Amino acid sequence: MCGIVGAVAQRPVTEILLEGLRRLEYRGYDSAGLAVIDEQGQLVRSRALGRVASLQERLHKEPIEGHIGIAHTRWATHGVPAEHNAHPHFSNDRVGLVHNGIVENHAELRAELKTQGYVFTSETDTEVVAHLLSRALENGDDLMQAMLNVRSQLIGAYSFAVIAHDDPETLIVARQGSPLVIGLGLGENFVGSDIQALLPVTSRFIYLENGDVARVKRYGIEIFDVNNRPIERPVKQSNVNSFASDLGEYRHFMLKEIFEQPSAIAATLEGRIAANGINWGTIKGQQVQERLAQVESIQIIACGTSFHSGLVGRYWIEALTDIPCQIEVASEYRYRRQPPRKNQLVITISQSGETADTLAALEKIKQEGSCLASLTICNVPESSLTRESDWSLMTVAGPEIGVASTKAFTTQLVALQLLVGLLIQAKGGDISKVEQLSNGLRQLPLLIEQALNLNDAIETLAERFLEKQHALFLGRGEMYPIALEGALKLKEISYIHAEAYPAGELKHGPLALVDSEMPIITVAPNTALLEKLKSNLEEVRSRGGELYVFADKEAHIQPFSNLHVLEMPHVPELLTPIVYTIPLQLLSYHVAVLKGTDVDKPRNLAKSVTVE
Ligand code: G6P
Repeated sequence: MCGIVGAVAQRPVTEILLEGLRRLEYRGYDSAGLAVIDEQGQLVRSRALGRVASLQERLHKEPIEGHIGIAHTRWATHGVPAEHNAHPHFSNDRVGLVHNGIVENHAELRAELKTQGYVFTSETDTEVVAHLLSRALENGDDLMQAMLNVRSQLIGAYSFAVIAHDDPETLIVARQGSPLVIGLGLGENFVGSDIQALLPVTSRFIYLENGDVARVKRYGIEIFDVNNRPIERPVKQSNVNSFASDLGEYRHFMLKEIFEQPSAIAATLEGRIAANGINWGTIKGQQVQERLAQVESIQIIACGTSFHSGLVGRYWIEALTDIPCQIEVASEYRYRRQPPRKNQLVITISQSGETADTLAALEKIKQEGSCLASLTICNVPESSLTRESDWSLMTVAGPEIGVASTKAFTTQLVALQLLVGLLIQAKGGDISKVEQLSNGLRQLPLLIEQALNLNDAIETLAERFLEKQHALFLGRGEMYPIALEGALKLKEISYIHAEAYPAGELKHGPLALVDSEMPIITVAPNTALLEKLKSNLEEVRSRGGELYVFADKEAHIQPFSNLHVLEMPHVPELLTPIVYTIPLQLLSYHVAVLKGTDVDKPRNLAKSVTVE
C-alpha cells in the first residue's frame, strides 16, 4: 500500500526521502516518486515505475535536491501503474502532492476542474486534490488555508503531504483515515506513513488524529483539528526497545535483525549526543565523570561476537586516548593471574548479560579488588551483568532472536565509540575528536542502509560458496576483528570452516592453503592501510586464490578474473568496522540459506551461554 515521506531541513533532503521510501517498501507498491523545491525555488520531481531502486537510479543520473520535499510509493487504485500516474502530482508546477487513500468524489471534482481549464495528466484521484489546492492558492489562500478549504470538499479516506512553490519553507499534511506521523528533529522535521520510515532521522513522534491538518516547518509544528481549532498532540518517544519479535516480511530472524541495524543504531544513539559532546547520562552509575577521569588502564572481557567488538574497541581506545587497553576472552581471563594495574576500568561486553564465563571473570576481579570501576556494555536491562557491574552502558538493539549475533554486535561498536568520547571528555582531551566521533555516528544509520543495498549482489555471490569447505577472511588494523567476525558468522550458520587473519600474517602460514579452491574474503576500506592490503591481495592473486573484496568505491581495486570487487559506500575511517560488518553478515546469511541450514538456530549453539 502507498507510503508517504516528507522532510523540511537545513540539510538536503533527497537521500532522507529515498531512505524513508526504502523503509516503506514492505508495504507493497508499484511505482515511486519524489519532489523537492530546488535552489532556484522551482518545484521539481522524479518518478519511476517499479522499485525505489529504479527511482534512485534515475536520481543518480538526473539529481534533484532541495531542503524541503515529499516522496511516495504508490500502490495503484485509480489508473494503471505507470510513471504518469506515480506521485507526486503537480498542479501548474505550483503545488506538489502525495496521497495515501482514496478520494471518493474525485470524478465530480475532476469534471468541475476541467471546465475551469485545469489540465489532467494522470488518471488518479490524487491529481484532483493538487488542482483544488492550486485553485485555492490562486484565490488568495495561503497553503494552510488552502488545505483546510480543500479538505472540506473531499469525501474519502486519505493522508496528504503537500509542498508549494509559493511557500518553500512549509510542508502541509492532513490525515483522514490513513495513518500519518510527524517526526521531530532538531531544526528539522519529517512526516511519514509510519515511524519506520523516519527512524534513521528521529525517534520522537507526533501521531496525527483523524481530521488533523498540520503545518510543519523547520522550527515549528502547528496542528488544527477537524474543527479547524489549534490543538496540541502529545510527543511520543518511540519504544525502540520493543522491536516486534515476529518475522514480518522476513524469512529468518537473522535477516530481519540485519536489516534492523539502522534503527537499532539510531535507538542506541538516541539522546546520547549533545551539541557539546556525549551526554554523561549515557553511562548509568555513580560518579562516572570523576572516576573516568582517573582511569589509567582498561581491561575488556567478553566472549564470542562480543569479544570481537571489544577487539575493535581496543583499536579505538588506544588510537583516540592515551589509555592502554587490554582485551581477553572471559574463559581465559578467569583462570589466570593478572598483575594488578593501577586505576583500571574493567569493561565487560555481552548481548545477553548472562554469559557464565564473563560473569565469572567479573566476579574474580571484584574479589581481587583490582578495579577502579566495572562497566558493562550490554543489551539486556536488569540482566546479571548489569546488576553486578558498577556502571552500565546499554545498547538498544531490541531483542535479538537469531543465535548469530548481528545488531547486538554493531550496537556494541556504537556504544564503544560513545565510551571513547566520554573518556576523551573526562580526561580533558581534544574535543575535536569527540566532534569527529559524534558527526560520524550521526551519519551511521544512513551509511548502514547504503551497505544493506548490497543485499541482492551478495545473494548472487553466495552461490559461489555453496560447494566450498573452507574460507579465509583477511583484514588489517581495526578491520582484522571484522574479518574475525565475518569468519565466525560463516562458520556459525553455514558450517563452512572459516578462519580470519591479519592480512600481514598471510605469508607466515595461511598462504600455503591458497589455491583456486580457496575463497578469500577481504574488507578494504579506503584507509591508511589500503596500499598494504593491496599488496597482500596481489600475493593471493598470483597464487591463483579466488578473491572477494568489499572495497571502498574510491579504493580503485580493479576486478580481474579471480578478483571480484563489491563496491561499498565511502565511509569515514572511524565508522569502517561498523559499516563493513554488514556485507559479511549478509554473505554468511545467504550462504547458509543456500545450504539449507537452520539459520536462526544453528546446530549445537545457544544464544545465551549460561554454563561454563
Ligand atoms: C553465544 C552466542 C554468541 C555470543 C556469545 C557471547 O555463543 O551464540 O552470539 O556472541 O555467546 O554472548 P554474550 O551474550 O555474552 O554477548
